[in-house]
Amino acid sequence: MKRLAIPVMLLLTMSTTYAQTKPGAGAKKTSPKTVAKPKAAPAIKKEDVDEGKVLLTKSDCLACHKVDTKVVGPAYADVAKKYPYSTANVDLLSTKIINGGSGTWGAVPMAAHPALAAADVKKMVTYILSLNAK
Ligand code: HEC
Repeated sequence: MKRLAIPVMLLLTMSTTYAQTKPGAGAKKTSPKTVAKPKAAPAIKKEDVDEGKVLLTKSDCLACHKVDTKVVGPAYADVAKKYPYSTANVDLLSTKIINGGSGTWGAVPMAAHPALAAADVKKMVTYILSLNAK
């Protein structure tokens, strides 16, 4: 009986040690994969947001748009809700502002803004879409 006790104890010690070091046996499971993001959007640049906000006041935008309420055009907060910030949406909305747009928010079309620089319009849109994050 005594001769058997030592190997059994050794076996027990070994198995508990194994259980502790076994991957995934710990309380916290750390997955090597990070949580999948819904397609990485570039971070919103604060300086673009600030500049975009100023540019909006210099153009005619605010004659037809307010942040929180619909005027002639949709509220910018509603635009931000509809379009999550992404490069594709910034490009899409910039094109619509420059070329004019219609049919998305109602019967009234938005006039074209061919005189605006594309880079400036993108900043305006970046500001508009940043409203969703607040
Ligand atoms: C004369 C009024 C008017 C002016 C000025 C105007 N908008 Fe609009 N805007 C509208 C209307 C109306 C719509 C809705 C068009 C539609 O239903 O597709 C709109 C839509 C938009 C949208 C959403 C487009 C979409 O397809 O969802 C954005 C973004 C926008 N305007 C930004 C601007 C910016 C920036 C300016 C200034 C450079 C501006 N607007 C100037 C009337 C205007």
